[in-house]
Amino acid sequence: MASRQSKRQAPSRERVAKRAASSPPTAVKAWSGRFAEPVDALVKRFTASVSFDRRLAEVDIRASLAHARMLAAQAIIAKSDLASIERGMAAISKEIESGKFSWSLDDEDVHLNIEKRLTALVGDAGKRLHTGRSRNDQVATDVRLYLREEIDALRAALSRLEGALLDAAKEHASIVMPGFTHMQVAQPVTFGHHLLAYFEMFERDRERLADCRRRVNRLPLGAAALAGTTFPIDRERVAKELGFESLCENSLDAVSDRDFAIEFTAAASLILVHLSRFSEELIVWMSPRYKFITLPDRFCTGSSIMPQKKNPDVPELVRGKAGRVFGNLVALLTLMKAQPLAYNKDNQEDKEPLFDTLDTVKDCLAVFTDLVAGIRPVPERMRAAALEGFATATDLADYLVGKGVAFRDAHEIVARAVRDAEAKGCDLSGLSLVELRAFSKAIGPDVYDWLTLEGSVSRRNHAGGTAPAQVLRAIIQGRKRLARS
Ligand code: ARG
Repeated sequence: MASRQSKRQAPSRERVAKRAASSPPTAVKAWSGRFAEPVDALVKRFTASVSFDRRLAEVDIRASLAHARMLAAQAIIAKSDLASIERGMAAISKEIESGKFSWSLDDEDVHLNIEKRLTALVGDAGKRLHTGRSRNDQVATDVRLYLREEIDALRAALSRLEGALLDAAKEHASIVMPGFTHMQVAQPVTFGHHLLAYFEMFERDRERLADCRRRVNRLPLGAAALAGTTFPIDRERVAKELGFESLCENSLDAVSDRDFAIEFTAAASLILVHLSRFSEELIVWMSPRYKFITLPDRFCTGSSIMPQKKNPDVPELVRGKAGRVFGNLVALLTLMKAQPLAYNKDNQEDKEPLFDTLDTVKDCLAVFTDLVAGIRPVPERMRAAALEGFATATDLADYLVGKGVAFRDAHEIVARAVRDAEAKGCDLSGLSLVELRAFSKAIGPDVYDWLTLEGSVSRRNHAGGTAPAQVLRAIIQGRKRLARS
């Protein structure tokens, strides 16, 4: 049934072929000299990338200018050709910026669209630009340049999010909340400490991007189609002008591998893993069962049917976006696997997953930065939850160890005390000294200093610990780390 319906809707192959044959011959292609008939209309649309690689226009022009300057410096083209190319490219940049540039499917991709316009504007000099170059090394160069700059923007966006986390951690440094393992109350922690856990994750993400940038920032141009070129090119000069740290050292590898894009998307996926974990916590904390925090109304939406609802749409959507970015990673990995050397058209498929990843991560980081600044903890709810789960049981064991009891024995004594408190429906600190001493004669009146939530957190006063003093120290360190790079 479904197939019959789709047959009715989709134009038949013959109809597409007929339409292509009757349509006026397409404009002359950059490579059409070799072909006896114009390309099929569907094939033209199917193989074109201009609809999505247009965003490379600015880097494409920049890279072309660097290439042209090198060609002129090496006397491969005349100085007058370079001047014409520079003049033409300046005009094209203006046309693109003002939205006047007319992009055409006939010219397949961003590279050919620009080159064609250049030739229309400056004549033969435009035709000389592609000397010693191929679209294969050109596109690899463009994508690397583009990605390098986007990585810098993402690192700055991560810094802003991390800054917001440090601000929030400072404001809430000593609020006590339950720390969880297995989703069960484990030990008290400070809210500031909990927020700083995410600071660490995003700081590693920022490091990962910096590391990945080093491998992105290598110049493929000069590899030409795959084997290099017969012209006496100067690749170092081009690299220097474009700010590349080094050259791709093998021409076959330079035009074909997209591992740098895969690596970036893997780093982006980890950012989304971290944002998604954070989102999940915000959603849980905001649920009426917990009510550990509230989020400002501007981050929530209502329900079209249930008037009482205030839903955490923003964190839920960020959690959902993780799937999209992981999908892009798998798309790129699958695109690359089993491709023989060197360039194959498969690689044109690298752009959409990469661009989508960039857009998604950028939006998620921006929205989360505002969200973090808007988190309002509800300290009494956090406190009440921490008091419910015998969160200071480990502290009692540590206390007993201080009184000379072996840790394993202390663990056993506390387990029995917890059972007693559970039966009596109170916290450990609700048991009287007499009741506590029934489990161990080592227990004295000073025990209550250890059983309070505040006592518990402030004793964990070492690097990486949850004590408010450590949170404040970590914030100062964190600001230094952000300022450093
Ligand atoms: N649009 C192409 C891409 O993105 C440019 C390279 C085309 N090279 C070729 N030999 N067809 O990969």
